[in-house]
Amino acid sequence: MNTPYDRVAYPSSVFTQTHPERLAVLALLAGLEPVDPRHSRILEIGGGDCLNLLSFAAMWPDCSAHGFDLSQIAIERGSRIAEAAGLDNVSLAVEDIMEAHRRYPAGSFDYVIVHGVYAWVPPHVREACMELVAHVLSDHGIAMISYNAMPGGHVRLIMREMLFNIVDGIDNFEERIDAARSFLEDYAKPREGDEPLAITLRQQAESMLQRPDSVLFHDELGDCYYPQRLIDVVRAGEALGLRHLTDAGRNRHLDGFLPDGAEVPEDPDEAVLRAASRDDYAALRFFRHTLFVRAEQEPDRTIDASRIDGLYLTTKLRRQEDGSFALAGDTIEIADEELATALEAAAAATPQRLAVSQVARNPEQLRVVLQLFAEWYVQLYVHPAPFPSVPGNLPQTSPLVRALLEMGELTVCTLDHALLKIEQAELRGLLLAADGQTAIPDLAAAGHGIPPEDVEAALTASAQRGLLLG
Ligand SMILES: C[S@@+](CC[C@H](N)C(=O)[O-])C[C@H]1O[C@@H](n2cnc3c(N)ncnc32)[C@H](O)[C@@H]1O
Repeated sequence: MNTPYDRVAYPSSVFTQTHPERLAVLALLAGLEPVDPRHSRILEIGGGDCLNLLSFAAMWPDCSAHGFDLSQIAIERGSRIAEAAGLDNVSLAVEDIMEAHRRYPAGSFDYVIVHGVYAWVPPHVREACMELVAHVLSDHGIAMISYNAMPGGHVRLIMREMLFNIVDGIDNFEERIDAARSFLEDYAKPREGDEPLAITLRQQAESMLQRPDSVLFHDELGDCYYPQRLIDVVRAGEALGLRHLTDAGRNRHLDGFLPDGAEVPEDPDEAVLRAASRDDYAALRFFRHTLFVRAEQEPDRTIDASRIDGLYLTTKLRRQEDGSFALAGDTIEIADEELATALEAAAAATPQRLAVSQVARNPEQLRVVLQLFAEWYVQLYVHPAPFPSVPGNLPQTSPLVRALLEMGELTVCTLDHALLKIEQAELRGLLLAADGQTAIPDLAAAGHGIPPEDVEAALTASAQRGLLLG
């Protein structure tokens, strides 16, 4: 079958919101008992080339990962990477959501990821997708379904209507993109007397212009675009024996929980759903990452920060001279100096993970760390980092990194589930040489373009970025 995704490849990427450890942390926060991601069964539906999934397979050799997509070209690319990396715990298949149901036994996956699919397929495929999720999710499983949400989706629908007026009848990819871009460039220019809605639409046009051509082609100019209301997605899951847990997106982790200190209402599920839905409209929300568990699971929706005590954390917050912290343009004040110092240490160790108990030593500090996690300034994990912070005596590059470099890619996927561009050809050469059988002095002697005295430091920096297995 020749799908639009076969004609124009979708960019491969990894998505923090799909990370099983994040899903597990949110389940633990609700008092549930998620399956240990390191030994879990993970399914990714409509994963494109499934690089996201390959990243989990590379970091957890004892998990078993399966991904499928309708696009043969995407799956062929993912399979080539998996094979080159020697990942024997992952399988990828060309498969249609409509057919997939009968292939998998009930309850056969502990983590089910459906990212960027649900709002971009026709209604019958969407229904089949939810049926598949409900069918394969194990007793303690967690599913993450992301989608373009309402009411922000209305704004994008207006943009689509405008764009389709322009590109209707243009089939050629380049011409379609050129026509859309030149329209958007003009439309994005502010006009005198713009009403607030027009300003919003122009900003939307501006942000569409930032997207790569292939994303514009599929996400904005694709045949299917059905943004969803949170409540409809949750009801669709409930009808099939699933229960809404919370949201895996930035600033949304606590959506499935009652406000701190609030009295528990008669129907907590309904109370949090109604509140989150109201908030979607208040914030003109565009996107959601909704988590589901089986209906038999009973999340405790009161916030209990002590539940994060046994976890691990990283943070990219940077301490400023004035004592505040900064991240991506935001400034955060941490009044408790003991906690601030501990967070500084955690930032210095990142992407290695510190135990939460090393950073937050009392209930109030735990509460602050939980809030920082909810706001995406701190990442929480169930386990220590799955990679060392220093190279072993026989340094070994992650097989996934090696495979991507061997395929001529400059951007690799780290054992920290991040994309990293390795600009320096010499470092790429050194990483390819670190085969787990060559000692550091021999790697230094071989050259690879890096001065011998700098090789150990380059390997240490590589280990710290999650590029080395050992
Ligand atoms: C927008 S892309 C998202 C890809 C990837 N999950 C990501 O987020 O980067 C949508 C994906 O859904 C896949 N897809 C669409 N309909 C499908 C179906 N009926 N069965 C399986 N995959 C499907 C497409 O081939 C495409 O790879």
